Amino acid sequence: MTPSTFDFARVRADFPILSTEVRGKPLTFLDNGATSQKPTSVIEAIDRYYRTENSNIHRGVHYLSEQATDAYESARAKTAKFIGAPDQDEIIFVRGATEGINLIAHGFVETQLSAGDEILITHMEHHANIVPWQIAAEKTGAILKVVPVLDSGDLDMEAYAALLSDKTKLVSVVHISNSLGTINPVREIIDQAHARDIPVLLDGCQSVPHMPVDMAEIDCDFFVFSAHKVFASTGVGVLWGKREWLEKFPPYQSGGDMIERVDFDGTTYKGIPGKFEAGTPHIEGVISLSAAIDYVWSLDRAGALAHENALLKDATAKLSAIDGLRIIGTSADKASILSFVIDDIHPHDIGTFLDADGVAVRAGHHCTQPLLKRFGVPATARASFAFYNDFEDVDRLVTAVTKMQRFFG
Ligand code: ALA
Repeated sequence: MTPSTFDFARVRADFPILSTEVRGKPLTFLDNGATSQKPTSVIEAIDRYYRTENSNIHRGVHYLSEQATDAYESARAKTAKFIGAPDQDEIIFVRGATEGINLIAHGFVETQLSAGDEILITHMEHHANIVPWQIAAEKTGAILKVVPVLDSGDLDMEAYAALLSDKTKLVSVVHISNSLGTINPVREIIDQAHARDIPVLLDGCQSVPHMPVDMAEIDCDFFVFSAHKVFASTGVGVLWGKREWLEKFPPYQSGGDMIERVDFDGTTYKGIPGKFEAGTPHIEGVISLSAAIDYVWSLDRAGALAHENALLKDATAKLSAIDGLRIIGTSADKASILSFVIDDIHPHDIGTFLDADGVAVRAGHHCTQPLLKRFGVPATARASFAFYNDFEDVDRLVTAVTKMQRFFG
């Protein structure tokens, strides 16, 4: 085994917000599933862009436009390398994973789905991977099928195999559940779907921040993630799709920069990726993603993941020992996301109480209402760890929970 070179002290110091105080207490940021904090190098890249490079892209012949275009397009190449995509033209910059899924759903509505076809999702999907497919089904007469989830928070893979049919036109599944932390067996899911020539979309929002992903190895057909969960800006994300699929889809939005030629008697479009990037994009956001990828590449990723897993193990052991606390999502294969409920205390009260001690967790349904209904709870409190958290953060969480329980008697 290679010894870890993950340097926690350096990493912690790279995120300036982590040394601030909230409500007079040191910040304990455990809401990384919702959004990640940004390292100095990303903040500086955004600052540098506006100080020295700001210009529109693909449009100007002047120096700044060339600089901005180069930065934007080299970010596309870097993003392809980051996720192991073979062809940089298959990287589409979108507003976030939600827009990526909507773009694919639009393509399916326009070119793939007819009445009676089936779209297969799972019970643990984020609303962003449910609602676009409900709308697609309403528009086309297709039927939405749902793979159940076991009490452990694992997918019911027997049910999955039984639900795949000749009518299935797409399987769309979350890579890592944002509410349960479950890491889904995506290779198995994809192999079974591909054996029937069914394409698979993976929602990688929670996987990309936690572990390296490799499109060539995973061999899904579409993959989406949001930049703000990977230490970059909000408002930008990535859709990767296999060329053969993206070329089948019509434009999702139309306007400037996505055309080849416009005349009143007709318009022709660019090929991919330009066809899907109408209007001025989030240039600063893409540049921040580029800097964030450099940052992630500078880390010992295996070491970072091992650190997150150790935090999860420590937090799981300490929270499980608290009377009346129940963890929702106990799969053996989990990322560092810990959802819990406590007898007689509403998760919103948990969130508010912990906040008073500087501990930021998310409380609510986490945009997975059907999943929480399946577990018989309206909401959970969720602590989600990043590699820049430490064991002191775990202890502050546990101490605050214990203090709250004493308070509520
Ligand atoms: N999807 C994000 C979360 O899980 C916002 O919190």
